[in-house]
Amino acid sequence: LHPSSRSVTLAGLELFADASAAELSELQDSLERVEVDADDALVREGEPGDCFLLVVQGEATVTRDGLPVGRVGPGSIVGELALLRGGLRTATVTATTPVIGLAGDAESFGLLTETAGVRERFGRTAAQRLAASVQPVPATLQDGTAVQLRPVLPADRARLTAAFDGDFSADSQRKRFFSPGRPSAALISYLVDVDYVDHFAWVVLLAGPDEAGKGVASARYIRLADDPDTAEIAFGVVDAYQGRGLGRLLLGALGAAAPVGDVLRFRASVLADNAPMRKLLDRPNSHWTREEPGVVATVLDAPALRDLIDPATAAALEAEAQAIVAAAHLALA
Ligand SMILES: CC(C)(COP(=O)(O)OP(=O)(O)OC[C@H]1O[C@@H](n2cnc3c(N)ncnc32)[C@H](O)[C@@H]1OP(=O)(O)O)[C@@H](O)C(=O)NCCC(=O)NCCS
Repeated sequence: LHPSSRSVTLAGLELFADASAAELSELQDSLERVEVDADDALVREGEPGDCFLLVVQGEATVTRDGLPVGRVGPGSIVGELALLRGGLRTATVTATTPVIGLAGDAESFGLLTETAGVRERFGRTAAQRLAASVQPVPATLQDGTAVQLRPVLPADRARLTAAFDGDFSADSQRKRFFSPGRPSAALISYLVDVDYVDHFAWVVLLAGPDEAGKGVASARYIRLADDPDTAEIAFGVVDAYQGRGLGRLLLGALGAAAPVGDVLRFRASVLADNAPMRKLLDRPNSHWTREEPGVVATVLDAPALRDLIDPATAAALEAEAQAIVAAAHLALA
């Protein structure tokens, strides 16, 4: 990075579409202009994070352990996680064209996130970046099948689409969505593009030698807007893997994540003919009601559900959820 005297303007960036001229000028005054030549690094993995960088012009690639994980361009913010957590850079960002940016410290990052509209646009991206860096938690089903659990990522769109296209029968879709139709592209976006605070989802991937990385199940909680201590839960296990304990594993995993998001209760609506789901949710503290003809609902004590899975797995899942939710809060704070 070297200081630059060329003037830059923030007004054209989509990130600042809602910002006032006064906000932008205050923000610009708190930041230092920098230039990076093509092929030079903006930040390097493993180095201390003492500033963040807002890219104003130019493009760069992001690599972790030498592998590409993303691209950044005008309006992208890099390096803020290490700065805010007081830790080391978790990725290297290398300019592919000359880059002009604005560098700042934690205080100016605070100013940036207070700028109108920035929090909404940026918070989601930051949480997703951290989610991409978490380690999947291994687990073994009773029949010996090796799986991994991790939070859902935007990149899971293809996995989810494939599952809906072939591995999830019309009857499973009916039980999951209360209608047999294939989920729309907009619904799939909603399912993979989560904020980890009000909407949290685990996915289960195969981890054995066969079909490693194939997605076989997911489960989520979505906080109720009018009752923030309570979240609606929903599950989907591909047909070939139903009845093998994945539902139970995921219910325990949601229970492990619940205290992290301050969720006290889970609520579920279930088709009355869905025997496995009713069995799964029929816990000592379940309280069932009839919601409408053919639909029953129950409310469960969320944190107690972690006892469904072994304590070490529950602890690992909770730690993973903690890391993501903390980052999402940081980005939003
Ligand atoms: C419902 C669903 C999530 C359950 O997951 P699963 O991995 O198949 O379930 P599990 O193997 O963990 O079994 C869960 C419980 O149901 C019981 N069960 C499994 N299959 C069953 C069946 N055919 N009939 C009755 N009970 C059954 C299990 O014994 C287990 O009970 P336990 O926890 O008291 O031991 C899964 O089958 C599914 O995705 N179905 C289609 C979509 C759906 O119904 N989603 C839920 C709507 S939100």
